[in-house]
Amino acid sequence: MALLGAAGVAAQQASTEPITTPVTVDLSALPALGMPWLEDNPYRGNAKVAEIGRTLFNQACARCHGDDGNATHHVGTDLRRLDSYCFGKLKDEAARRHCVRDNDHYFKESVLHGKIRVGVAHMPPWEGVLTQEAIWSLRSFLESRRP
Ligand code: HEC
Repeated sequence: MALLGAAGVAAQQASTEPITTPVTVDLSALPALGMPWLEDNPYRGNAKVAEIGRTLFNQACARCHGDDGNATHHVGTDLRRLDSYCFGKLKDEAARRHCVRDNDHYFKESVLHGKIRVGVAHMPPWEGVLTQEAIWSLRSFLESRRP
């Protein structure tokens, strides 16, 4: 696999075991955020960040959520549609902004802690694997692909 030894990560992503293989996509061009966790996407609208997020998404998430987020025939949901309610239903600008912020929070929490329902892990937690920069770059990529 050309992508910086992504084979190990890809093999792991077949399961919902906690991720232990480091993500190898080069994220050094992402503007540094450090800690603490922010509650909304600080990179919103940044096309360069979205492109880095796309590479990361295709390495870390595509196995379950589809290449470039196209989830047809995949176990995961179509994450490009996460903001569909905000943009489809809400006409008021402030309400829409609030809705997108709620989704920022939900996105971050979902990625950090994974998805476990009635004791069954549907998605592994990424806490300790993906940095804050990495997670918001993923969110930025998916926002850039809203239908
Ligand atoms: C092993 C498969 C798998 C991998 C890898 C995976 N996911 Fe998921 N993810 C799922 C499944 C299945 C769901 C739906 C689970 C549920 O709702 O109970 C989900 C749900 C989500 C949700 C909530 C979506 C919603 O509509 O409620 C987000 C956000 C998410 N994943 C982001 C990511 C990101 C970002 C990555 C890569 C860092 C990733 N996932 C990697 C399987 C995976």
